[in-house]
Order: sequence, then structure tokens, then C-alpha cells
Amino acid sequence: MNCLAKDLHDLSSKSMGVIVRITALCFLFLLIIVLTTGCSKKGQEPVEKEKEEKAAIKIGMTFDSFILERWQRDRDVFVSKSKELGAEVNVQNANGDLKEQISQIEYFIEKKMDVIVVVAIDSKGISEAVTKAKKAGIKVIAYDRLILNAGVDLYISFDNEKVGALMADYMKDNLPPNGKILMICGPLADNNVSLVMDGFMNGIKGTKLAVIGTEYAAGWHPETAFTVTNQYLLVRSKFDGIMCGNDNLAGQAIKALAERRLAGEISVVGQDADLDACQRIVEGTQNMTVYKPVEKLASLAAEYAVAMAKGVKAETKDTFFDGAQDVPYEKLEPIAVTKDNMDEVIVGDYHLKEDVYLNIPKEEQDKN
Ligand code: BGC
Repeated sequence: MNCLAKDLHDLSSKSMGVIVRITALCFLFLLIIVLTTGCSKKGQEPVEKEKEEKAAIKIGMTFDSFILERWQRDRDVFVSKSKELGAEVNVQNANGDLKEQISQIEYFIEKKMDVIVVVAIDSKGISEAVTKAKKAGIKVIAYDRLILNAGVDLYISFDNEKVGALMADYMKDNLPPNGKILMICGPLADNNVSLVMDGFMNGIKGTKLAVIGTEYAAGWHPETAFTVTNQYLLVRSKFDGIMCGNDNLAGQAIKALAERRLAGEISVVGQDADLDACQRIVEGTQNMTVYKPVEKLASLAAEYAVAMAKGVKAETKDTFFDGAQDVPYEKLEPIAVTKDNMDEVIVGDYHLKEDVYLNIPKEEQDKN
């Protein structure tokens, strides 16, 4: 090899070494970039996603139905309060169908809700599905109506016996001493029904008032009240008052009375303070209703639900025996409403004055 050739050979092997080193460095650099950007992103994504999913508390809420005005308020207040507290609510309507309500609870279990809130169509029939939810580690709230034998984490409602007691008070104060009463109740599948009845019966105990008939409206269907009132008016004994399980039933009972010009002659009581019931009260065809501040109920239930989702146990002053065990019971107070305290209790708070007095001429309103 001559000198030039040797020099060239040395040069090319040197530059080859440099190229190899540069390539290796580039490769290493690329590898670092891939590891620190691409890979780490892939690795972090699920963690972040998980965090995001964890962040929003998930509440599933199933209603019996939305036929009554009150349940729409319950829903609206519960949903907005929950949102305010950082939870999202999946609302389902079972339309009075127990099987549907059971499958809604199963869906909530599948979706791993943090809390399930149930307005039970059937206080016994829903127990198994609720027990399943509890076994899956989900907290359950029995909203307004108790769920039997399921050890729910919270039962939040009004004092339902007191609802019946307030109805009894009205009858005691306003019926003749040996007055006769027809009872038209909701379905016994709704645990509130027997509580209201107990409160009523205990309330008239020791008086000469007598219940001449007890009827039940399956599924709370109001037409039953119309049919039953008609039947009693036609073929059965005379009565002085009708105790109705709610205002929707009262409305139909009063319709039957009105067809015989008896509206206002026979005392009728109900519950819920529905707008049309309040109108009937100021008009004089219904005598009283029991107002239950459902906005308070819904808002408090939402607070409990969110706290429970965060692991807080419901601590309540009262407990209620569900047939198997005592469950925490948040008990709210119902209020009797007649013509006399309509303005004080309902107007402005629950209904607008112009709505309640819609059918009362202005001159007459001013007289009062
Ligand atoms: C509630 C009432 C309601 C009824 C029918 C009961 O359980 O306590 O307020 O009118 O169900 O929905």
C-alpha cells in the first residue's frame, strides 16, 4: 500500500467510526424520546382516565312514576342539588312496573353506580334487587318509601304515621261525633300506605268516629276513587267524610261527589298539596291536605347520597325497623293545610298565589 492509499484507508476507517458513533447516538436519542413521550403517554392514559371517572360521583335514581306533580319536583331538586355537589344522576322511570324497576337497579349495578336511590313501587318486591346492589358494594337510599328486609343505608321520608294522624285530627275536629268515614287508600305494596292508615286509625281511636269501608287503589290509580265513591254513594251506607291516600285520589272522589251535588257537603282529606287540591281547598270542595316539603326531602337526600358516595355513613337521630333490621331513618315533618293556613304555608313557597286562587273572583279574594 502506498502512502496515499494508507492515508485514505486510515481516513475512511476513522470517519466510519464517527458515523457509527453518530448513528448510535441518534438511535439512543430517539429511544429516549420514544420512551419519555410515546410510551409514557400510553402508560399514563388509563390512569388519568380512571382518575376522571372516579372524579364524578355516579348516582342512579329510579322512580315509580312521574304522574304526580310532586315526583317531578323531587327529581328536579335532587338532580340539581347533586350536580351542585359534584355528582351526576342517571334518572329512570319505572312507570309503575316492578319488573322494570328491578332491571333498572340491575343496570345501575352493572354501571357501578356509587349510590342507588329508589322510590320503591313495591316495598317487598324490590328487596332482592336492592340486596344484590348492596352485595356489589353500592350504597342504597330508600327515598320516601321504605324498602323492606334489605338493610338499606338510609331511609329518608316524612313521618308517614303523622300524615295519617293529621288527617284524623281534621276528622275529629270537623265531623259529627259519631261520624262515618270511607277510607280510600293507595296500594299496600307501598309501605307508606299502611303507615298512614295506622296513624289515622290510632288518631280516631277512643272517639265515636267509625270507618265504614276501606278500599285500596292498585298502583295509586285515581279512577278507583271515582268508582269506589260512586259505589258507596249508590248502594252502601251513608258517610260523612272520605280519607283519601293522596290528593290525586281525593280529586276523583270529589268528582263523584260533585256529580251528585255533594262536593263540599262531605269532608275530604288527602296529602301532597297538589296544585289542584289547593285550588279545591280554597274553593271549598276539599277540606284539607297534608303538605310535605319535598324540596327539603330531595335536597337532603342528595346531600346524603354524595356524602355516602365518599364513604360517609349516614348518621340519623331515628332508626326504622325494616322487617329484619333497624335502618337509619331521616324523618321530616308533614304539615296540615286547610283554607285557614293556605297562604301562610303554601302560597309563595310551594305554589303561586295566582295559581292557588285561579278560580276565586278577585273581589272574593280581597274579602278574606
Ligand atoms: C307518597 C305520596 C304519593 C303516593 C303516590 C306515596 O308513597 O308518600 O306522597 O302521593 O306515594 O305516588
